[in-house]
Amino acid sequence: MQMKAYIEIVDKKLDEYIPVSYPEDIFKSMRYTVLLPGKRLRPVMCIESARMFGADLEDVLPAACAIEMLHAQTLIHDDLPCMDNDDFRRGKPSNHKVFSEAIAVLAGDALLTFAPQIILKNSKNLGSEKLVRIMEEYFQAAGAYGVIAGQVVDIENERKQSEGERITKDEHSEILHYLHLHKTGDLFRLAIRTGAIIGGADEKALKTLTVFAEKLGIAFQIADDILDEEATFEEIGKTPGKDKIAGKLTYTSLYGINKAKKDLNSLLDECRKILSDNGFKSEIFEEILSKIKKD
Ligand code: IPE
Ligand code: IPE
Ligand code: MG
Ligand code: MG
Ligand code: MG
Repeated sequence: MQMKAYIEIVDKKLDEYIPVSYPEDIFKSMRYTVLLPGKRLRPVMCIESARMFGADLEDVLPAACAIEMLHAQTLIHDDLPCMDNDDFRRGKPSNHKVFSEAIAVLAGDALLTFAPQIILKNSKNLGSEKLVRIMEEYFQAAGAYGVIAGQVVDIENERKQSEGERITKDEHSEILHYLHLHKTGDLFRLAIRTGAIIGGADEKALKTLTVFAEKLGIAFQIADDILDEEATFEEIGKTPGKDKIAGKLTYTSLYGINKAKKDLNSLLDECRKILSDNGFKSEIFEEILSKIKKD
């Protein structure tokens, strides 16, 4: 199946999984950001990873959609005025601009807990052993050891930068790696590992795919940092140029745009090599890798 077909199936399921019920405002706010057209990379990667190990599409869809809900949660909170203060997301006004800050905070909280419920309610075929493993993966990635750790370090650095705190380049480089790995890499890792677990991958394959996922996640965030500098609103659906104004520590702010592009391409090549060296055949992952590429 092609990426476009996966995305259509995911979009349909996401719509089904979040019906509007009382109190309507919260469900409307949750649906708003989740259903806006995102790239759907994480659910696609989850489904593809499961497919590589022979899983049925039906068995992976609840987890794939849940991971997209978790991703939407991170976007809603990331855009809040107390975080990155972004007025646009996925080409439309950010959640808090439409529903108020209070509802946006609550919609994020709601999605964070709604997502694992979707897995538990809809994945009866998987059996309790796999379900427990998937829950462990989810909570690790979503919580204080995962995305939240990355977001905290991202925000802390913005403050340090604005207060003119002196940090060496080596320290910065270590911090940047940490925040990329967690704020972005952890959801890539979650998507790919969850799919592999559902498909019944062995420990060796899981380990290899974890390295692949982390490199791909970091590459993706480097590309996002480059796009913030170079892309237009129409291309990224969010306000460009904000990282520099906010004094964010990004790959481009630390190493410059040329090195960012060079390192991005090396990382993508490393990802390709992991796939081919280990006999993972996937047109979908090839397509994702070629779409991230930046010359
Ligand atoms: C945005 O992710 C947040 C980052 C990790 C850079 P995406 O670029 O995948 O956002 P959508 O899902 O397409 O909106
Ligand atoms: C992405 O960081 C990580 C998230 C958890 C959303 P960014 O702050 O760079 O993402 P964008 O550029 O707002 O999508
Ligand atoms: Mg951010
Ligand atoms: Mg942001
Ligand atoms: Mg960004």
